[in-house]
Amino acid sequence: MVVPDELTLADAWEETLTGDRSFYLGPDGDPYRHFATDIAASPEILGLVGQLLALAGEDTTGPLTVVDVGSGAGGLLTRLALAGTHARLIGIDLRPRPPDLDPGIDWITGDARQVAAELGGIHGVVVAHEFLDDIPCEAVEADDEGRPHRLLIDPVSRELQLGEPLEDPAQRAWLDHWWPVTRPFMRAEIGSRRDAAWASITGMLDRGAALAIDYGHTRDERMAGTWDGGTLTGYLDGRTVTPIADGSCNLTAHVAIDAAGAAATRARTTRISRWTTAPGHADFISLVQTFT
Ligand SMILES: C[S@@+](CC[C@H](N)C(=O)[O-])C[C@H]1O[C@@H](n2cnc3c(N)ncnc32)[C@H](O)[C@@H]1O
Repeated sequence: MVVPDELTLADAWEETLTGDRSFYLGPDGDPYRHFATDIAASPEILGLVGQLLALAGEDTTGPLTVVDVGSGAGGLLTRLALAGTHARLIGIDLRPRPPDLDPGIDWITGDARQVAAELGGIHGVVVAHEFLDDIPCEAVEADDEGRPHRLLIDPVSRELQLGEPLEDPAQRAWLDHWWPVTRPFMRAEIGSRRDAAWASITGMLDRGAALAIDYGHTRDERMAGTWDGGTLTGYLDGRTVTPIADGSCNLTAHVAIDAAGAAATRARTTRISRWTTAPGHADFISLVQTFT
């Protein structure tokens, strides 16, 4: 195997998501072995999706669709099917179609960022629950003078290492706008790939609403220093572990949800609020956007 001289965090992370080292596509990648926030167990999300679907259907008698992006075991779509929805149901996930899924539910196996680019004209609701936090990002750590340095991955140990000062103009611009690095030793994650993913996913919608629920934060909180320690972590068996980018754990970082929302430039309305209905998950935040 050729070992690269330098490995960016986002590239190494991508390998553990969709590449050779994919955590989700490996033998241990069943989401429900690792996560305590099963969307199917949340009546609040089901209710909210129902409301958004009703809103999307107000101006038409035509067919509606619910697309669940990163649909895991298909729990949300199964609950909607059991509730008797008339909407077409589509799950998109890296993982294959769950074996016992209701045959009325469509399933697309693939990278949702690419699938979305090919699947347009949706009228209805797009849901992304605990999806954006999986999308890779770059990260920085400030030195004692507050200058951001890139966080890289050691190509051999696959552990985090501190790199050179950040120079990439686009990444600097993202930080300056969304998460200014102003304090010594603070960390920040650069959400531009999540922004692009959300723009692509919401781009599927011709008309309707998009809902993201995730571990997340807003600019006010970031400016106040609430997240100065950074949020990059690993998950395994329901517990946080050291983030090692070798595919042995799920890598995740909280989502700059306002930045993602701003990337959906066609959105007619945007609502961001703390999602308080998941007990023990105070870090959850919701983004609801409407499209016409
Ligand atoms: C934490 S699980 C959440 C599953 C489900 N949404 C829920 O909340 O119960 C994340 C899911 O997103 C899928 N996923 C992550 N990145 C993806 C991508 N780029 N394209 C499609 N699916 C992805 C994973 O395979 C996994 O099933």
